[in-house]
Amino acid sequence: MGSHRRRAEGDPVDSKPARLSDTEQAGIRLFEETLGYVYSAALRAAAAVGVADHLASGPKTVVELAQATGAHADNLNRVLRALAMRGVFHEDDRGRFELTPEAELLRSDVPGSLRSAVLTFTDKTFWNSHGELAHSVEHGDASFDKVFGTTFFDYFRDVESPETFYSGMQSKSDSENASIIRNLTFPAGATVVDVGGGYGGLLLEALRADDSLYGLLMDLGDHVVAGHRLGELGDDDRWELVTGDFFEECPPADVYLLKHIIHDWNDEQCVRILRNCRRAMRPGGRIVVLDTVIPPRNEPHLGKLFDIMVMSILPGRERTEEEFRALFDKAGLELTRVLDTGFAVSVVEAVAR
Ligand SMILES: C[S@@+](CC[C@H](N)C(=O)[O-])C[C@H]1O[C@@H](n2cnc3c(N)ncnc32)[C@H](O)[C@@H]1O
Repeated sequence: MGSHRRRAEGDPVDSKPARLSDTEQAGIRLFEETLGYVYSAALRAAAAVGVADHLASGPKTVVELAQATGAHADNLNRVLRALAMRGVFHEDDRGRFELTPEAELLRSDVPGSLRSAVLTFTDKTFWNSHGELAHSVEHGDASFDKVFGTTFFDYFRDVESPETFYSGMQSKSDSENASIIRNLTFPAGATVVDVGGGYGGLLLEALRADDSLYGLLMDLGDHVVAGHRLGELGDDDRWELVTGDFFEECPPADVYLLKHIIHDWNDEQCVRILRNCRRAMRPGGRIVVLDTVIPPRNEPHLGKLFDIMVMSILPGRERTEEEFRALFDKAGLELTRVLDTGFAVSVVEAVAR
């Protein structure tokens, strides 16, 4: 006891970390997991301030970045160094920050930009619903409805600007759409309907890939389809807009694309949507669901996080292949193909039984 001496200036600093027990290390890991949301908040702040746009021309000091963005230099530095731990931004040996491939996608002016997706999926509508996730776990319904006093899609029609959700959804979806369409084949001359297609990015890629197709973009109302992007096809007018409720009916077509639709709803609601597609489907038609397929047990998969997300905002869930098979069966359909696209979204196809 008495032999302990205070470290005097000039004494060497012992830089070897103390050896921790397994329990102590587990505690650190658990606390790191607990602070996962801080990382998302930092990502949101970087996207909101728009810092990535100012690094397009090369590395900059945080003072230069603060001048360019109007941000508080010291706090911006703290956010960027935290993000750099996970490879979003990188600090060089002169203390300047630069873009990494992930940070590049935070730029607002690059093809495939995810800036809008980052802002939407960390918006208060998602953030506050996840803060109340225990409500969903205890009661089995979406915490969104408790927090915001209405349902998710009604909120983005009646309360908040639709743009806040639909442009971020489009940004996330667009990063996958061209690649997904390359994994699909369409019968020549087919009519393809993008059911709940939002701004129509998936349909746009289908029409670009095959000039024999005719496209219908179907969504809830003008507040959604008014933001459509099919005008990017220029004079090519092989498309029309359809507004309506897929729980009531779906338009006649040969191919039904349902991207991130089935995962929004419970089994009973999904069977209603799928039956409506089947009823309207032309002979030889096909249903193409584009959603995560959950792998078994402990296998890591981004879809298991999407699953929590839809749990907190909607009555939906992500499903296993067996669960898709059972849904299709109840809707008079038969599962014919499951394809992993490499994204956390698979192609799950079905035909009429
Ligand atoms: C999760 S978003 C997916 C959008 C798009 N398919 C994508 O993957 O980017 C769900 C879409 O379903 C639409 N939707 C929700 N309820 C609907 C209903 N009852 N009838 C038609 N569309 C609906 C929403 O407006 C929204 O565009």
